Amino acid sequence: MKIPHIHIPIVRIPYSPQVELYIKREDLIHPEISGNKYWKLFYNIQAYIAENKATPMLITFGGAYSNHIAAVAALGRDLGLPTAGIIRGEEVADLWADNPTLSKAHNDGMELCFVSRTEYRDKEKLSRGFAERFPDALILPEGGTNPLAVKGIRHMLDRRTKDFDYLCSAVGTGGTVAGLATYAEEGQKVIGFKVVNDPDTETRILSFTGRKNFTLKEAWGRGYGKITDELLRYTESFEEQYGVPLDPIYTGKMMMHLTALIDRGYFPVGSRILAFHTGGLQGKAGIEAMLQKKKKSLINLP
Ligand SMILES: Cc1ncc(COP(=O)(O)O)c(C=O)c1O
Repeated sequence: MKIPHIHIPIVRIPYSPQVELYIKREDLIHPEISGNKYWKLFYNIQAYIAENKATPMLITFGGAYSNHIAAVAALGRDLGLPTAGIIRGEEVADLWADNPTLSKAHNDGMELCFVSRTEYRDKEKLSRGFAERFPDALILPEGGTNPLAVKGIRHMLDRRTKDFDYLCSAVGTGGTVAGLATYAEEGQKVIGFKVVNDPDTETRILSFTGRKNFTLKEAWGRGYGKITDELLRYTESFEEQYGVPLDPIYTGKMMMHLTALIDRGYFPVGSRILAFHTGGLQGKAGIEAMLQKKKKSLINLP
């Protein structure tokens, strides 16, 4: 992996005259390893390749629509490394061929291994088992969050991001916000929009960064992977108005809650706010197709 020599656009979103709102299109960094995934993998892969293992392999964890699984499969294909994805939910094994994320990962050469939700919960134990069987493998945690991933997030910040008052990101495992908090300028405030109702997120972020310059907001709505009509209407109209596509699991929920905070006057007048588009568009078409098929106003992703 290289530091791409592309100029990531920062686009103005003329949402409200009260504040200056911008989105950094980190999703454009790579067609398949998009947004924060690129940076979370960057130093992990660099360090692993330098180890020059005899039988290299990438193993990681995720749900049926995981952006991280999609990114690791594409990366393994590009680097010529075997990959294995440990997928949450045995029932998904019957559905994977219709699931765009998993069928693409399979076509990229990833071996899919489906485990029950109970087994999946104890990822430490699963990891230990895989480490014993494949001692040369790089085992990446769910969402790719570890100290090297946090270090990679530094590259989402540059000269242009320095004079924003607020830096915003969706939060899953917390690695991205930990990186933004670590490398933010003095006085910049980081806001993380949690899409997972996990009481340990703040502690986990603090374990990666010594700085308490971040605030977490609850943006999970009806829950992780729960997509309502209201949210889909929001993402559609956002794309129509501002030309920026959002995914319904991370960036859609972040922007819906961020613009609601602007409406409520949370930010002082004139604030400069930068939201990071962390990618996640790969699963969007499949999710929308599922919604069409079910004709329901709320779907639960497996
Ligand atoms: C599109 C997208 N945005 C945000 C996140 C949240 O990142 P983190 O797990 O580092 O909190 C993820 C998960 O990696 C993601 O796929």
